[in-house]
Amino acid sequence: MTKLFEPLTIGSLTLPNRIIMAPLTRMRAKQPGNIPQELNAEYYAQRASAGLIISEATQVSQQGQGYPSTPGIHSPEQVEGWKIVTDAVHQAGGRIFLQLWHVGRISHSSHQPHDSLPVAPSAIAAENSGTYTADWQETPILVPRALETNEIPGIVADYKAGAENAKAAGFDGVEVHGANGYLLDQFLQDGSNTRTDHYGGSVENRSRLLLEVVDAVIDVWGNDRVGVRLSPFNVFNGMKDSDPVKLFTYVLRELDVRGIAFIDLIEPRAALSSTQDHNVEDTPQAASLFRDVIHHTVLISAGGHTPDSAHEYIDDNLADAIAFGRHYISNPDLSERIRQANPLTPYDRATFYGGDQKGYTDYQPHKDKAA
Ligand code: PHB
Repeated sequence: MTKLFEPLTIGSLTLPNRIIMAPLTRMRAKQPGNIPQELNAEYYAQRASAGLIISEATQVSQQGQGYPSTPGIHSPEQVEGWKIVTDAVHQAGGRIFLQLWHVGRISHSSHQPHDSLPVAPSAIAAENSGTYTADWQETPILVPRALETNEIPGIVADYKAGAENAKAAGFDGVEVHGANGYLLDQFLQDGSNTRTDHYGGSVENRSRLLLEVVDAVIDVWGNDRVGVRLSPFNVFNGMKDSDPVKLFTYVLRELDVRGIAFIDLIEPRAALSSTQDHNVEDTPQAASLFRDVIHHTVLISAGGHTPDSAHEYIDDNLADAIAFGRHYISNPDLSERIRQANPLTPYDRATFYGGDQKGYTDYQPHKDKAA
């Protein structure tokens, strides 16, 4: 038996195992209003045997939405909807953090207040990228509007309000989404941030917004209930940076000093996982590159894991816990299946995004053939 099934202390929380349900966009919030509902509660409660559930990415403001039917955490109705989810997970014995999200340039006017342009650090469109309009039409990415410096405190305030709402909704903590080419990642990386104010230029300046958001969220939750998701070397959503090792070493050091609950680090091999099954080849291994930077926080490794790689990462001390995304879609009892070395049910990409219970709450836990 490996350490994968030993309990893990994350801040003031004890996880019964080290298998984490990764944040997964499923686009099944109730309309109008992007409100979590009973169906979502059933889905999350089915997965409560995970050491920790991290919710699907959840927009902190209307401006932060980029895809249809993703849930929000900025209206009273959304807070009430999330309470149904957190109650169901807790009743089933689980723990759940909310992922706080702003998509920045990966939006479309149809999601924006007053049909305006999506916002971003700089007026640079994401290459090779797309999204869906509010009425589910595939659309290329627009050239966004660069945020004015005096708008940035409002963005930080939106994350803080999202963190307060997550507390009111009964979550156990929050994860700040700093990955995958969304707003905070757009500020971090110099392929999308050419600003000349103190939010652009040097690594310190490009990291400022993420760190201001993290500090604001720590004010609400305390450092031990705040995680951060990062994706160094990621190419999804048109991302690039001239020196990712320097950038992410700085960011990770700053987060480590804050003693946050965890860093949720995505392996670059999984950069195309929201559209493709295979891993990207010949990518660096983020866990081994950055493991030594982290001393005061827990490292969760995510992206393209198999049961074998999960055991390996934990046994080799490359990470403290392992997040699974796609396998959690089709294996609600994933932690038990891995513990028992039972086969995994394959997932069906056609039912990842949007729709109803099909491909969402109808995957069954493993049944012993002999039983
Ligand atoms: C997606 O909806 O495709 C998506 C959302 C959040 C992510 C990655 C992909 O972090």
